Amino acid sequence: MIKTKRLELVRFDNKYAKDLFELWSDYEVIKYTYMPQLKSIDECSEKIEMFINYTDDEVVNNFIILLDGKAIGIVGSPIIDKNKAVFGLYYQLMKKYWGKGYISEAVEAFINYIRGKFPNAEFNAEVVCENPASETILRKIGFSKVGIEKNGFTLNKFTLDIVKFIG
Ligand SMILES: CC(C)(COP(=O)(O)OP(=O)(O)OC[C@H]1O[C@@H](n2cnc3c(N)ncnc32)[C@H](O)[C@@H]1OP(=O)(O)O)[C@@H](O)C(=O)NCCC(=O)NCCS
Repeated sequence: MIKTKRLELVRFDNKYAKDLFELWSDYEVIKYTYMPQLKSIDECSEKIEMFINYTDDEVVNNFIILLDGKAIGIVGSPIIDKNKAVFGLYYQLMKKYWGKGYISEAVEAFINYIRGKFPNAEFNAEVVCENPASETILRKIGFSKVGIEKNGFTLNKFTLDIVKFIG
């Protein structure tokens, strides 16, 4: 478990399915990701199982963000190359908690936690160009913009550029 001033980061567990359904059934949260908009708590449990299966027991690369014991978001890293300590980065927060700095707090704690285990860790993060709050979060934690992939994100009616960051 990772603790911050206001939050706790815990491993994925199905007991948070109801809370995470609120997150993943919200189109505003998933619209710039490749996640489908979920329609039921059963689908949510399947998704949680997937995150559990993609969690490396040594790294512990996926976390649920808790505020006063309630799941309000997620943060973590797909492992791109464990030997070279290269990771991706994702974060999502329920809409009613936006604008309060919670995700910046959670992402910073998560990055520090991974760097505690892998001092040379490199993070590759991608942000859809219409998501400036997400870019601000990355810049605040010291990530640098390294390029733009034109029309890199295509989903449903969207085709958008992707801004690439390294941290
Ligand atoms: C991206 C997301 C996590 C941001 O949540 P949030 O609660 O607004 O984040 P925070 O409050 O911690 O920080 C956002 C920062 O961006 C800034 N910001 C917000 N809107 C902005 C805009 N239009 N332009 C520039 N900066 C902006 C805020 O001022 C804040 O910076 P500050 O702390 O210096 O004031 C949230 O919108 C979300 O979950 N979106 C859906 C999932 C997603 O897109 N995830 C990212 C891709 S993996």
